[in-house]
Amino acid sequence: MAEVSEMTMLNPADGYARWAATYQRETIVSLLDDALVSALTPPLAGRRLLDVGCGTGRRMIAAGAASATGVEPSREMIAAGATARIGRPELTVLHGHAADLPVADHAFDVAWCRLVLGHIGALAAPYAEMARALVVGGTAVVSDFHPDAHARGHRRTFRGPVGVYEIESHPHPIADHILAAEAAGLVLVDGADAAVGPAVRHLYDEAGRIELYEAHLGLPLVFALRFERV
Ligand SMILES: C[S@@+](CC[C@H](N)C(=O)[O-])C[C@H]1O[C@@H](n2cnc3c(N)ncnc32)[C@H](O)[C@@H]1O
Repeated sequence: MAEVSEMTMLNPADGYARWAATYQRETIVSLLDDALVSALTPPLAGRRLLDVGCGTGRRMIAAGAASATGVEPSREMIAAGATARIGRPELTVLHGHAADLPVADHAFDVAWCRLVLGHIGALAAPYAEMARALVVGGTAVVSDFHPDAHARGHRRTFRGPVGVYEIESHPHPIADHILAAEAAGLVLVDGADAAVGPAVRHLYDEAGRIELYEAHLGLPLVFALRFERV
């Protein structure tokens, strides 16, 4: 996450191909996402988890679900998480896209889609696919970079070996997520924002940017929504 400046803009495929090798490192956005999604996700023991846009698969690996299936378009991200899945037969990562999930109908109890939909122009197909993949009564938890942060000049960025890159994104209003979900048969049951605060202060400190922490304090950076499949 950074403010608008002179940065190289990459499309998501090129961006995550370059970010894959260092993606495991937590960021301000990923730490806020993790706290928010953990709070909104029902207990996963004994449940089948689908992780749409799973990246390296880092979240599903630690989820404690009976089984977890990730879907991810970046082969570099899939490869970057491969060794962590060795000896874990309950974990599967499939190559695919959110708008056309390579999974059976009604095969999952819980679906995550974390920090992904802002990289996709249209929300209807990803929500329809999550609804198709869930059992009736199942839960979808969707998180993303907060559109208010985007409106205040913050962008999806990462630091590569020779500078900071921005990854192309579409700041969908939260209301558009809810409308697309409802059209797909997913009813909103809960939601929350996560803002810059003490939980991420150490990352500003480690980067030697504590003055930015003071400036960003209270800035909503991530939102998450919990839906029930009806
Ligand atoms: C910010 S990363 C989040 C990864 C993972 N959900 C996590 O929280 O660690 C965004 C991911 O979305 C993936 N992505 C981009 N476009 C996608 C699409 N159309 N369908 C599914 N995933 C996509 C990217 O390749 C990347 O791995």
